[in-house]
Order: sequence, then C-alpha cells, then structure tokens
Amino acid sequence: MVEISTSILSVKKDNIIKTIYNLETAKTDYFHIDVMDGDFVENNTTEVMLEYCDYLDSITNIPLDVHLMVSNVRRYIDMFLPYNPNIITIHFEAFKDKNELLDALDYIKSNHCRAGISIKPNTNISEIFDILKYVSVVLVMTVEPGKGGQKLITSTLNKIEELHRYIETNKLDTVIEADGGINLENVSDVKEAGCDIVVSGTGIINSDNYNEVIKNMKL
Ligand code: DX5
Ligand code: ZN
Repeated sequence: MVEISTSILSVKKDNIIKTIYNLETAKTDYFHIDVMDGDFVENNTTEVMLEYCDYLDSITNIPLDVHLMVSNVRRYIDMFLPYNPNIITIHFEAFKDKNELLDALDYIKSNHCRAGISIKPNTNISEIFDILKYVSVVLVMTVEPGKGGQKLITSTLNKIEELHRYIETNKLDTVIEADGGINLENVSDVKEAGCDIVVSGTGIINSDNYNEVIKNMKL
C-alpha cells in the first residue's frame, strides 16, 4: 500500500485551517510543503509555506514532507528545521559540486530528518544512482517543478520503473516518491511503476471528498 503526501500548495489562505483539519481526518500520511524561492523556480512560496507550517505545527502531528525547490539549499534547510520535518528533499539540479550535495544531505540527516533527493523530468535517473546510499527518499518529479495543477508527464513513469529495478537489484531500502499531476485517474500507473509515496495536490484538494480520494489512491 502506498503512502499519500498531500501538497497544500494550491490551498488558499482563507481555507488553510479547515483544510488541515479535513486532511488530518482523511488520514493523509504527510503534508507536502512545496517551498519555492523565485530563483530555482519562478514562483516564490516561502512566506506562505512558513505560515502554513506554523498552522500545521499548532494543529497536527502528521509528518511534514518538505520539498525545497531552492538554490540556496542550506539557508532553506535552516528555515524549515524548526518544524521538525520528517523528510527534507533537495534538488539534484541545485548543485554544481557533488561534495556540496553530499554535505547538504549529511546536514539534513544530522538534524534527524530523512534526506531526499529530487530530480526534474529531464534529469536521467542514472545520474543519481551513486548517491542513493546517502538518501532515504528519491522524489521523482512527474511534472516540471514550479507550480501545481499541471499534467503528469507520462515518460517520467519509465524513470520510476528504472529506479525501482535498480533499488531491487542492489537491495537498497530507498523509498520512491512521485510528485506532480497525480490523481485518481493515473495513480495506478504511478503505483505499478514502483512508487512508494504519492504526492498529490489538486488531485485531492479540488475533490469534494478527501477521505474517498485518499482511500482510493492508497488501494
Ligand atoms: C510542483 C510541486 C508539486 C505540486 C503537486 O512544483 O512540487 O508538489 O504542487 O501539485 P499537483 O498534484 O496539483 O501537481
Ligand atoms: Zn512538491
């Protein structure tokens, strides 16, 4: 059974408190926090995501799954550590130097969070094989990072399959997470490809029954 990480990127401020309670009741496994800095990607969601993390901190114990789409990775890790996230994911493409990437992953783990690496649709999965031993989670982007409500890029499912095969063959315990454009219509393809954690934003938030959608996504 997959876990569901609901992205609250598309939730309007007027609805955030009600939505957090409803998603908690609907048993989302994580809240997916999409942090964008306006540099690595065009949008900037930093202030809103910090505000939403304040609400989450006072309302629920459901784990936070923080997705950093940022260039100054260390600065943003420090910004979100106070919320004790379960997972902090950084982007492979945010680093020119592999040692700096490994240092950032170490820093996340030294702060008792699971370290995740995310790759954009155009990055080959084989580029991260040599760092799988340093991460708990690989976040395979199934859309171009930067906004919610996009259509899943079908070719990215082959990357999940290839990664799943590599993990099985090498007996790694790395978790595969998929993120972007996932909904009830395509979630079975994502699961068949080998995904363990499904991120969904509009596929859940725009529905009129969070319970039903999350339950059916997990089946
Ligand atoms: C895109 C984000 C995704 C996105 C998911 O940059 O990383 O988490 O918000 O939202 P949907 O499911 O609507 O694509
Ligand atoms: Zn995300």
